[in-house]
Amino acid sequence: MSTASQEIGTHLDACLAQAVAADARMADVAAVIAACAAAAIDVSAVIGRGALGGDLAAQGEHNSDGDVQKALDVLAHERFTEALRGAPVAEVASEEAEGVMVLNPGAPLAVAIDPLDGSSNIGVNMAVGTIFGIRPAVVRAGDPIASFTDPGTAQLAAGFITYGPATSLVVTLGAGTQIYTLDREAGAFRLTHPQLTVPAQSNEYAINASNARHWDTPVKAYIEDCLRGTEGPRDRDCNMRWLGSLVADAQRVLMRGGVFLYPGDNRKGYAQGRLRLLYEAAPVAMLMEQAGAGATDGERRILDIAATGVHERVPLVFGSAEEVTTVATYYGGRNPAAGRSPLFGQRGLIRS
Ligand code: F6P
Ligand code: MN
Repeated sequence: MSTASQEIGTHLDACLAQAVAADARMADVAAVIAACAAAAIDVSAVIGRGALGGDLAAQGEHNSDGDVQKALDVLAHERFTEALRGAPVAEVASEEAEGVMVLNPGAPLAVAIDPLDGSSNIGVNMAVGTIFGIRPAVVRAGDPIASFTDPGTAQLAAGFITYGPATSLVVTLGAGTQIYTLDREAGAFRLTHPQLTVPAQSNEYAINASNARHWDTPVKAYIEDCLRGTEGPRDRDCNMRWLGSLVADAQRVLMRGGVFLYPGDNRKGYAQGRLRLLYEAAPVAMLMEQAGAGATDGERRILDIAATGVHERVPLVFGSAEEVTTVATYYGGRNPAAGRSPLFGQRGLIRS
């Protein structure tokens, strides 16, 4: 959907109708986005009531990844899968379900979804979100995950909703990235950012620094050089922001630039980082690329990576194009500063 020519304030439904009028093949994808938007309005109302609506952080079962599910994780999973059942969706891969869920056999599309991203921010009035990627459904005898094993380039559309001070839907249909903001009085999303362009350069980085001693060497070297500011090889001072909700960090990067890193590290189970390829990294990567930014695992473009399992993890670096390229040079061992860090050396602040 290219909305660059559309007026600010236009309702999402009107923008989707226009995209379908321009290309009838987008009708199914538009229906899925409309379903996600409807579910998001519901979930936003629940989150907006905060503690008045009960304990959204109440703990329940463990999900597929061993994380304890909170009440809001379960509610969001149910609301989104129910909405997708009414759309042309054959299968859903959700963070909150172990295997692929079959919704409408024979339907043309498949959706990978993180119904409630940023779970650690539930219950403390911080931003959380929902992430989704829409792909063609693939039927292959004996392969229950066939719809989800093509690289991220197979995605037809992707988006995320941020339930923050405002609720917003960031979306791409493969022709630019747009933001719609929820008009609570109208009960509808309205176009507020017709075409995002992420600045190519930035001094702002996002990483959970408490894991510094576990990071792999290229990331240690890169962050150390950021910390050295004007006294180091980057020759500029940096700023750090880490919200702990991927959606909120990604939205900041989309709106003002920056780089986000969740690398692989040497904690047990974190060799491939923490974030999931299908319903976190691939949708965010598509949104970034469509806004002129980049996304890599350090060595490969995220959108070129094919999943072999529904909940597979991937190291994730995304954001301002030049900064993502710089991080990749540290991985390639081509950066002269890489691996020569006094901070990480034997007597450094952060030991390798
Ligand atoms: O969904 C995983 C997630 O909650 C992301 O939203 C966020 O970026 C990340 O985990 C935070 O991880 P950590 O708690 O390790 O900093
Ligand atoms: Mn998540």
